[in-house]
Amino acid sequence: MRTDDLDAVKSKLYEESEPFLSAHPNYDISTLPSWVAESIEVARVYGNSKKGVILPDGRKYHLDNHLNDLTGREWTFFINSVFSTHYPTSGKEAYAHHIRKIHPTPKPPQLMRDLIQFFTKENELVFDTFMGVGGTLLGAALCNRTAVGIDLNQDYLTA
Ligand SMILES: C[S@@+](CC[C@H](N)C(=O)[O-])C[C@H]1O[C@@H](n2cnc3c(N)ncnc32)[C@H](O)[C@@H]1O
Repeated sequence: MRTDDLDAVKSKLYEESEPFLSAHPNYDISTLPSWVAESIEVARVYGNSKKGVILPDGRKYHLDNHLNDLTGREWTFFINSVFSTHYPTSGKEAYAHHIRKIHPTPKPPQLMRDLIQFFTKENELVFDTFMGVGGTLLGAALCNRTAVGIDLNQDYLTA
């Protein structure tokens, strides 16, 4: 399907759906992803169960999504994609790689961010039992999760 056809389908779905606040007047908005909560006045719901949420720009969320805060499109992209990229080891985006390279295998914080975003919701707690020099902890910070880690090797904790 071409992009403009897809946009027309989403637009039609939005127009035909029901305002979120009239379908779910007592819903606890604080449990929704921030990008949905911020637009709750214009959010609408579709489907027999009224659990599909759609925003005017076409982004969709499902109320039974207890895993993450992703849109339907982001979810599909994540599970169907191989990320072919490189991660900088110098400059701001390196997140102090020069300090962290005392570890033989420091993980790229950006990669860990993408994995954490799929498996958690905003503000949840991530616990890394093998934290090394903190690639996962940095990744968690990049997507508004709290993170705690431990490591057997004292050298990494004091770096
Ligand atoms: C692959 S590295 C993790 C690298 C980390 N993700 C990073 O970005 O720096 C695995 C880490 O597990 C630690 N480790 C191994 N056995 C452990 C244990 N029993 N308890 C805690 N940490 C352990 C090692 O010291 C090592 O730093």
